[in-house]
Amino acid sequence: MIYVAILGYGVVGSGIWQVLAQNRTYIERKASQPIEVKRVLDTRKFPGNPVEKVLTSDYADILKDKDIQIIAEAIGGLEPAYSYVKQALLANKHVCTSNKELVIKHGAELLALAKERGLNFMFEASVGGGIPIVRPMNLSLTTDEVIGVAGILNGTTNYILTQMSMVNKNFEEALAEAQERGYAEKNPTADVEGYDSCRKLAILLSLAIGRQVNYEAIHTEGITALTQEDFAFATHFGYVIKLMADGRITSMGIEALTVPMLIHSSHPLSMVADVFNGVLVQARMTDSVMFFGRGAGKLPTASAVVSDIVDISKHLDQHIEHIWSTESAMLLPLSSYRRQKMIRVSFNDRERAMSLIQEYMEPASIVEISEYSGQLAWLSQCEPENKTIEKLARLAESKVFIGEPRILRIFEPTKSDE
Ligand code: HSE
Repeated sequence: MIYVAILGYGVVGSGIWQVLAQNRTYIERKASQPIEVKRVLDTRKFPGNPVEKVLTSDYADILKDKDIQIIAEAIGGLEPAYSYVKQALLANKHVCTSNKELVIKHGAELLALAKERGLNFMFEASVGGGIPIVRPMNLSLTTDEVIGVAGILNGTTNYILTQMSMVNKNFEEALAEAQERGYAEKNPTADVEGYDSCRKLAILLSLAIGRQVNYEAIHTEGITALTQEDFAFATHFGYVIKLMADGRITSMGIEALTVPMLIHSSHPLSMVADVFNGVLVQARMTDSVMFFGRGAGKLPTASAVVSDIVDISKHLDQHIEHIWSTESAMLLPLSSYRRQKMIRVSFNDRERAMSLIQEYMEPASIVEISEYSGQLAWLSQCEPENKTIEKLARLAESKVFIGEPRILRIFEPTKSDE
């Protein structure tokens, strides 16, 4: 028998309880022994709920319980999660977590501590909800050099963008609906500003290169400024808009950004809709591998945590190595990233605007949409950011354009010769 404790009986914690109870027989067969929740830490009471019998509000009850070998952290946020996880490892207990803030900030350090003590620290659910992605990155894609990790890593924003593009909702309406359905939190900042997606990208890139990618150094833009015009012009060019986490490992260094991007409608990632996530991993020999599934939600996320519990139960005396050191990995400056872009401008003189764009920007084609008169959009050359900014600055000197140009980058998979 393996005894487990769950920290936090919120959405994920109660999901872990439910998965372990509902799939008890199945999990017992996979783990070769029964898995039992001995304690659940929460300060709240849950009258009438079966969890009541094992509830405690005192973490010491769990730490000093010699029967408990595995702790599943589902509190979220940095504190007290970080202190609790550290104390658990120091008390010789294995840990698994769904907490991406904790993993990206302290993952390398907690892995080192787990290794030192012959324990395991696992975090499958921290990226991609129910999608197995951390374990494949750590165990399957180990023979090859990863050159690209990109994808849709946030379910909430993907739901909002799907609503905006498919049913013409504006951002506020789509967000309100996401909140009603329980996808978006009351304070949706971490999702809609791209911070959640950025942290997940940093975890995947850190696993790919074995060093610490600082998520705060990743250029991040949210989806709050997207408008119906952006979707209309993108559709006109054959693209959809997604909040993309785009990581590349090139011979020059590492590129990482989390921004709304255009994806061509023929690319499989363009079809990842609603709360689903999709991750594209590219490696030199393996080529492209794609992962797809529910990126958020109680039971998919809890299932990923329980997969760690089962894995740990089979490796109680063996640390499973993750190559992820605390050494920092430097990111290349954004100004050097080569991406094609869709650029949209408003003008006060159509003919001059057309001729200036042709002269300075070398666009493949310029389009107008009758519904949005007074605006032009074009696809830029595939060029570094600083080059585009320089060209746009020259364009702005003409005084023919009104306001700031709207720039949306276009996603292209990494090329193996980059
Ligand atoms: N808020 C996250 C999302 C939850 O919407 O993807 C899963 O990390």
